[in-house]
Amino acid sequence: MKLFIDTANLEQITDAFEKGVVAGVTTNPSLLSKEPKANFYEHVKKIVTLCKENGNVPLSVEVFATDPDEMIKQARDLMAQIQYSNLNIKIPIGYDELRVIKTLSEEGIPVNCTCCFTSTQLQLAAIAGARYVSLFYNRLLDVDGDPLDVLQKTRKFIDDNDINCEIISGSIRKAVDVSEAWGAGCHIVTAGHGIIIEMTKHSQTDKSIKGFLEDFNEWLS
Ligand code: E4P
Repeated sequence: MKLFIDTANLEQITDAFEKGVVAGVTTNPSLLSKEPKANFYEHVKKIVTLCKENGNVPLSVEVFATDPDEMIKQARDLMAQIQYSNLNIKIPIGYDELRVIKTLSEEGIPVNCTCCFTSTQLQLAAIAGARYVSLFYNRLLDVDGDPLDVLQKTRKFIDDNDINCEIISGSIRKAVDVSEAWGAGCHIVTAGHGIIIEMTKHSQTDKSIKGFLEDFNEWLS
């Protein structure tokens, strides 16, 4: 099980890599839009530099087209412009997009199929050749879905069919979502900077540390 950071913010990525717990980076057009306006490729190249410095970890960047042929063109362009061996192109799931996933995968362009909410979406994307398939965990909960059931079914499908594809859970809003997704068989959870910090916190931890130090200082005095 791995943890990725879900952000396009350079400072957050740098900070998370320093902690030694992040094995990849995912972005999407909305996350990029939160950053100061800049040249798209130049900003992505800055993220790539951080990924290279931290073990050539995977970076997912999403196309911003809706037409399948345009998606293929954009994906090829991204690979050519960014020149990073572990760049994965995010392609949203859809019937016509399966051809995009197949075409890019056959060209050796790794695809992260995103915007998935059901087992069948994740499974078909995996069959089509996606290197990663991304479930939107909390957006599915928002419509009374069962992300843990989707994860369990999809993981069994991938394992039973020996498919070279990893499930990513995104749309993470609480620290507990991470452990629950991992527990349901999700290979990777991608979480925002604040969630990763939240994963280290508990009121009893603070209370225990404070008590230990108070006792020790009293003993020393
Ligand atoms: C994965 O990278 C997704 O794009 C992302 O986690 C979506 O999260 P959101 O539901 O908070 O937008």
